Amino acid sequence: MAKTGDEGSLGTAEGAVMGRAAHALHADPPVLADTWAVYLLDEDTQALVRDPAYADKPMEWGDFDTSPLFALNVGSLRYAEDEVERCVRDGIDQYVILGAGFDTFALRRGDLSDGLRVYEVDHPDVQALKRERIARAKATPVALPTFVPVDFESTRMSDGLEASHFDPRRSSVFSWMNTIPYLSESATKATLREIAALMAPASRIVLNYSCIVPLSDEQSAYLQTLQGKVSQSGEPLKSRFEPQAFEALLTDVGFAIIEHATEQDLYLRYFQGRADGLNPSVPARLIVAERRS
Ligand SMILES: C[S@@+](CC[C@H](N)C(=O)[O-])C[C@H]1O[C@@H](n2cnc3c(N)ncnc32)[C@H](O)[C@@H]1O
Repeated sequence: MAKTGDEGSLGTAEGAVMGRAAHALHADPPVLADTWAVYLLDEDTQALVRDPAYADKPMEWGDFDTSPLFALNVGSLRYAEDEVERCVRDGIDQYVILGAGFDTFALRRGDLSDGLRVYEVDHPDVQALKRERIARAKATPVALPTFVPVDFESTRMSDGLEASHFDPRRSSVFSWMNTIPYLSESATKATLREIAALMAPASRIVLNYSCIVPLSDEQSAYLQTLQGKVSQSGEPLKSRFEPQAFEALLTDVGFAIIEHATEQDLYLRYFQGRADGLNPSVPARLIVAERRS
């Protein structure tokens, strides 16, 4: 599989958006009602995921069961959207989605788009492909995000945002979901410093990362297979953090931790009692943090 954006491919983001499309169409109830995901797929893939017979298939990658990872990804996006809703209720009107990929928040959340300006940060080639898919879609987005093309490894994220209408003097909320594991530790640290510098006091960030914790044999084997799969696709997993070290990173650059949740917390909040057994059982952490004054 090509890297996201290469030769018109969605790369690893393809699995994510196909999974969300099928989940929104067939799951009862979906953890995240991503009704726009299907429109970001090409015509043939749309027909495939709409077929009820496909309902269970997006969780397979060859013989690898991606459902724990899909659950973590979709649950994390729901966690982020719930936090953004809270921020909007508190009067925040700028939302920056880092590593947005084929996130559809801006396209479908008409209930929040009035007065909320959404910025999406990702590779320029990924954004070009996404814009093409939106332009060809058989649905009208409620709003379009402002696209801010950035490579976290080589470009300063703040240069891109400062060139847009983003106003660092006003409060904002940032989300950074399902992306940090694909970045080097140095790019993550540098970007966290930049985010803190761009935030007015009381701004918030919600993110997830892959954590270094004791693993069961089953978890070790799962993560090893996953690493092999994503490396083959050209988007290897590059970083994991000790939870205490990640908290220290955030507090050192000026954040106060509001919540530091585990994949088990995510399960209890959004997945418990589901008939389809979806469970985000991949070791991960989710954080909500607030910029100190
Ligand atoms: C697994 S996708 C997740 C996308 C989206 N957040 C979601 O949850 O569906 C990871 C995203 O990170 C982006 N990404 C990875 N490395 C990047 C980099 N160095 N600079 C900018 N974006 C990057 C990819 O293009 C992709 O959109």
